[in-house]
Amino acid sequence: MPELRSIILAAGKGTRMKSAIPKVLHAVCGQPILRYVLDVSRAAGARKTYVVVGHQADAVRDFVGAAAEVIEQTQLLGTADAVRRVVPFLKNFSGDVLILCGDAPLLEKPTIRALVNRHRRADAVCTVLSAEVADPAGYGRIVRDNAGEIMAIREHQDADSRERKIPEINVGVYCVRSRDLLRALSGVTFNGRKKEFYLTDIVAILRQAKLKVQAVKIRDSREGLGINTRRDLALAQKVMGGKILQAFMDNGVTLVDPVNTYIGHDVKIGRDTVIQPFVYIDHDVRIGKDCQIGPFCRLRPGTRLGDRVQIGNFGEVSRSGFGDQSVMKHFGFVGDTRIGKNVNIGAGFVTANYDGKSKNKTVIGDKAFIGSNSTVVAPVNIAAQAVLGAGSVLTQGRKIPAGKVAVGVPARVVR
Ligand code: UD1
Ligand code: CA
Repeated sequence: MPELRSIILAAGKGTRMKSAIPKVLHAVCGQPILRYVLDVSRAAGARKTYVVVGHQADAVRDFVGAAAEVIEQTQLLGTADAVRRVVPFLKNFSGDVLILCGDAPLLEKPTIRALVNRHRRADAVCTVLSAEVADPAGYGRIVRDNAGEIMAIREHQDADSRERKIPEINVGVYCVRSRDLLRALSGVTFNGRKKEFYLTDIVAILRQAKLKVQAVKIRDSREGLGINTRRDLALAQKVMGGKILQAFMDNGVTLVDPVNTYIGHDVKIGRDTVIQPFVYIDHDVRIGKDCQIGPFCRLRPGTRLGDRVQIGNFGEVSRSGFGDQSVMKHFGFVGDTRIGKNVNIGAGFVTANYDGKSKNKTVIGDKAFIGSNSTVVAPVNIAAQAVLGAGSVLTQGRKIPAGKVAVGVPARVVR
C-alpha cells in the first residue's frame, strides 16, 4: 500500500469569526477545532502531517507542538498556494497526500478512512469528498459531466446561476497521488476576482490530463461543516455535543434530559449512572458505575468519582476524587480534594482551596462525616471516621485524627 501523508490547511484569517483568537483554536466541546482534524489525520493512517499556518502563526504553532510539522504560509494567497508551501517536503514522496481543512471538526474517522480506501480501490489519482446540503451557498460546487463523473469544482463566486443550483458541494478534503498533485499545482493560475490560487482547480487540470478523478459523497452531510462564523461554531457544538451524549446512552448511561445536559470530550461514565437535567460535565472527568449526578451540578476537569457516588444539586467538584459510595447531595464546592469511601458531606460544605497564592489540598478519609455548612481552609487532613461538626471552620494546616470529632470556629477536637 502506498504511504499516506496529510496536509492540514490552517493559515486562513477566519475574518468572519470576528475574533482575536485564530479560528482553528476555537473550542468545540472544550477542545480546539484543530485537535479534531489532527486526530482524524492520524486515524486515517497518515505517517506524517504538515500543518500550514499563517494568520497568528505562533499561536497555532504552539498548539500543534510536536503533533505535526508546521509550515508557514507568509502571504495568504489561497488554498493552492498553501499546499504549494508543502511541495519542497514532498519532492521525493511517491505515496498519497490527504488534504484536510483545519476548520472542519465534525469529520468522522471512518469517513476519512473510507475515502482513502475508495481512492486506492479505484486506483484514482484524486478523490474528492463531497456532500449534498440544503443550503450550498458559499461552498464550491461539484460539477459533473453527462456520464456523472466529476469535471470540476466551481467556487460559489465564480458559479453561474445554473451551477449555483447544484446541491453537491466540496467538503474541502482530497486524497491525491503526490506526484500528480505536484504537477497539477504548477498548473493552477491566479484567480483575479478572489485574488487567490484555488486548490479546487486541480480537479479540472487532472481531468484534462485524462487522469482518474472521482468524488465520493458523505452519508451525513453535517460532517462536512466548515466553521466560518460563530453561528457555525454553535452548530458544530450542537452536533458534536449530541454525538457525545448519544454515545453515553448507547453505552448504558441514563441521561434523563439530554437536551439540557452538557458533556465535554474525554469523559468516561460507568454503566447505570444516572445524569439528571442541567448537569455540566467538563472535559477530563471520570465517573464510575451506578452514580447519581445532579440535577444542577458542575463537574470540572480532574474530577474522579468512584462507583455509587452521589453529587446532588448545586454541587461543584474540581480536580478532586470521591471514593466509592461517597455523597455530597446538596450544594457545596470541593476543589483539590481527595475523599475516601463512604464519606458523607452535608449541605453547604466548602473547601477554601485557594489562599490567594496557591491551590492547597484537602484529604478526607473513609467514612468521615462532614457536617452541614462547614468550611475547611486547605491544606487540611480529616482522617478516617472523623467528624467535622456543622457550622465549623477547620483552619489551615489542621488535622482531625481518626475517629475524633472537631467542632467550632476555629474547629477544635472535642472527644
Ligand atoms: C474552500 C474551498 C471550497 C469548499 C470549502 C469547504 C477553495 C478555493 N475553496 O472554500 O470549494 O467548498 O473550502 O469548507 O479551496 N487556507 C490557508 N491559506 C489560504 C487560504 C485558506 O491555509 O491562503 C485554509 C483556511 O485556514 C481553511 C481552509 O484553507 O482552513 C479553507 O479556506 P477558506 O478560506 O475557509 O475556504 P472556503 O472559502 O471555505
Ligand atoms: Ca471554510
